[in-house]
Amino acid sequence: MRLTRVPGLLFGGDYNPEHWPEEVWAEDAKLMVEAGVNMATVAVFSWSRLEPRPGEYDFGWLDRVLELLHEHGIAVDLATATATPPPWLVREHPELLPVDANGTRLEFGSRQGYCPSSPIFRAATVRLARAMAERYGAHPALAMWHISNEYADHTLECFCDESARHFRRWLTDRYASVAGLNDAWGTSCWGQHYTDFEQINPPRKAPGPINPAQLLDWRRFCSDALLECFEAEKAVLREVTPDVPVTTNFMSVLPGLDYWKWAAAEDFVSDDAYPDPADPTSQVNIALSYDLMRSLKRRPWLLLEQAPSAVSWREVNVPKPPGRMRLDSLQALAHGADGVMFFQWRQARYGPEKFHSALLPHGGVRTRGWQDTLRLGGELEKLAELAGTHSRADVALLLDWDSWWGLEAPESMPSKRLELLRLMRSWYAPLHALGITVDLAPAGRDLSAYRLVIAPNLYLCTDEQADRLREFTGELIVGPFSGVVDPADRVHPGGAPGPLRELLGLSVDEFWPLADGAVQGVRYADGTAGTATRWAEWLRLEGAETIADYTDGDLAGQPAITRHGRVGYVGCALEDVTPVLTDALTRAGVRPVADVPPAVEACLRVGPDAAYLFLLNHGTTTAALTLRAPGTDLLTGRDLAGSIEIGPRDAVVLRTAHEGEK
Ligand code: GAL
Repeated sequence: MRLTRVPGLLFGGDYNPEHWPEEVWAEDAKLMVEAGVNMATVAVFSWSRLEPRPGEYDFGWLDRVLELLHEHGIAVDLATATATPPPWLVREHPELLPVDANGTRLEFGSRQGYCPSSPIFRAATVRLARAMAERYGAHPALAMWHISNEYADHTLECFCDESARHFRRWLTDRYASVAGLNDAWGTSCWGQHYTDFEQINPPRKAPGPINPAQLLDWRRFCSDALLECFEAEKAVLREVTPDVPVTTNFMSVLPGLDYWKWAAAEDFVSDDAYPDPADPTSQVNIALSYDLMRSLKRRPWLLLEQAPSAVSWREVNVPKPPGRMRLDSLQALAHGADGVMFFQWRQARYGPEKFHSALLPHGGVRTRGWQDTLRLGGELEKLAELAGTHSRADVALLLDWDSWWGLEAPESMPSKRLELLRLMRSWYAPLHALGITVDLAPAGRDLSAYRLVIAPNLYLCTDEQADRLREFTGELIVGPFSGVVDPADRVHPGGAPGPLRELLGLSVDEFWPLADGAVQGVRYADGTAGTATRWAEWLRLEGAETIADYTDGDLAGQPAITRHGRVGYVGCALEDVTPVLTDALTRAGVRPVADVPPAVEACLRVGPDAAYLFLLNHGTTTAALTLRAPGTDLLTGRDLAGSIEIGPRDAVVLRTAHEGEK
């Protein structure tokens, strides 16, 4: 199924014509056609231009933009324009500006200055979304709706009185009675027993650590409050334009929003990705993010924003070297995207993003950047048949926002060094290097589609999630500090691993966080040595066998890694999980999609008539490898078989026979 009615892969970017005199627009449209652009994102931050005074709309300029784009065959990803409330609204209702945890109300002058709980803000967004839908719903250029922009980017939470009232309503729905809340929040601790919901506030700055159960509910609430904003606009768009798909752009793997919940509310998932060219691990980390985007709805997704070269918001904004923009784009496609779009089309002359790269740089068509744009546009046309194809994974990594929020509560953990993303990446990186397709999955889902499931950490584990893991018959690996608390952040009776105890065949006697800089030796049965840092546990085996034990310090001789039938447990933060992983992959019979040398990433998309093998050389030297099956490289049109070479930052997209295998 296609994301939108636009055929082939989507290519284009954020287009901000209101930054430019109208004379420039014609050149924009002409150059877009030259580059093969087929989609432009329009009106993301245009509220103050579209509704300059309350209820008074100025759609004329946007009418002309849509007409121009349409005349040039360019479809529109039309934003509802609600990402930044206009000055008149903010001055009339200063209470809709967000308030931080210290009680400071933030000023106008940037973007996304709104309280997610403000009924005035919400009503105004819904009015504008309706006006946009009524005006443009039947416009032939309209291909999709883009609600707001990057929810939770600048405004994830607001601590104002309106938010407090909203939080109380949310808590009342969740707990029904204040007694239920007292029980869930463990308010007997530190004298916090409430007798009325009215006594509860957001977790504003307090003299000491805040109740972690309150913080956990606050995180849930903040994600839900923003989702309500999205849903309110979506309802209007659905009513007026039931056939136009709706999305909002995510921001890669981030803790702010529960993307499983959010994705369920979207017609398709779209994401903004800004890997840092200065970070040598960025290509691996962004691949994890892309796999999440594909997994959220288990269908193709859209890369709605990326930078052609440098961004403008890091301390040092390193540009993308030649070839990197193309390779990054192919990487998103390799991981299931049906389009690559950019921020932004024409590089700005003013504002905070004037040094952010664009498809059409300040220097115009003379620049290296423009040549890259032309090349990519041409190549995407050659890859059009990828649209709608998908990926099949044998391996799933579990990711659960409740558990993430619980784990990273700021002040009440045995250690602040056990970060979820770092644990996730410790498993993902070697899988990625091996060329194994990985899905992300929520812990409570039916996992029977997979042969190997890895829970890098499941700090918060419900009985239902434990049931799903028990029902799963493939190989399972559970990471440290799992099964610790219930949904209210209360330690499971008897301690960790709570409902996973029988499954893992062990219990945790004591958590053993390692001091900064401390390295704990680990030894596998065959003598292989490993190391753990940051975290270890003193385990008590209750049926599990030892796979590796600690070699030194107070834990010497104690089990570090165990196995209980098909279930492995890693009770420490291993620096290198490869021995555990390769053993599990062998047991599970999981094969890479290709045999790749270091620095080459391999991914497979599968269509009804063919399979597409992506081989991406992220290295700076030529890589050699042997193909398992012959095929045609869609990028060059060449037939390839046997031994091949891939140049530095180059790629092959091989159409091969459909084998029905991964
Ligand atoms: C995104 C945002 C865009 C633009 C871009 C720059 O976060 O959605 O509007 O600011 O970053 O990298």
